[in-house]
Amino acid sequence: MELITRLIADHQLIDSVGGSLLSWWDEVRYRNGNVGDLGGYVEFLSRFVCGVHHRGEEIIFTTLADQAEVPARHGPIAVLRHEHQRLAQANEDLSELIGRSGDFGQADDEIVRKLVHMLWEHVDKENSVLFPQSLKRLQQHGVAQLDPPLISEGEKSAREIAEALVDRYKPIDDPDVVRGDGCMACSVFSESCHGIEAEWWSSWERSHYRSYDDG
Ligand SMILES: [Fe+2]
Ligand SMILES: [Fe+2]
Repeated sequence: MELITRLIADHQLIDSVGGSLLSWWDEVRYRNGNVGDLGGYVEFLSRFVCGVHHRGEEIIFTTLADQAEVPARHGPIAVLRHEHQRLAQANEDLSELIGRSGDFGQADDEIVRKLVHMLWEHVDKENSVLFPQSLKRLQQHGVAQLDPPLISEGEKSAREIAEALVDRYKPIDDPDVVRGDGCMACSVFSESCHGIEAEWWSSWERSHYRSYDDG
């Protein structure tokens, strides 16, 4: 499905931008890196990620809810939409560092890392849960194709800026972060979401697949 293929390609860049932001942050804090480059990261997040990328995911959410009998008020869709709002807020917080000339402290470090960790976890749960489960559900309900949204010139240029930043500041990992796939790796599992089977399956699916498992 072209939309999902496009979103997965976006995620590869978004994932790298997270690691690149950490790399830039190390440069700025310990090696007199260019503080001004932060503007490019903020622009990518606000224009591209919170723009065309989230518009594409909204197409999946609304099609699942309208055509594939998936609840939108609770479960993965509600969690992911809430995270889109939190990401926008985290980017606002990051943008507060633009224009600073250095002298960063612990609170600033938390702002940068919180955003990167949020981005990575969000990408992992969409790649490992949302996309494969959506494909299955949409195909079961006769939706074989979804087209990506149109991308504006501003969004294209924000993506190019991010690609250049990833080249300039090679992505690094954060040793404090353990990444994982599936509902079990999700920080809200069993709190605001009880996993795909509990949230998405109908009573028929539960009894059918359970009896299948029982042999
Ligand atoms: Fe998302
Ligand atoms: Fe995404």
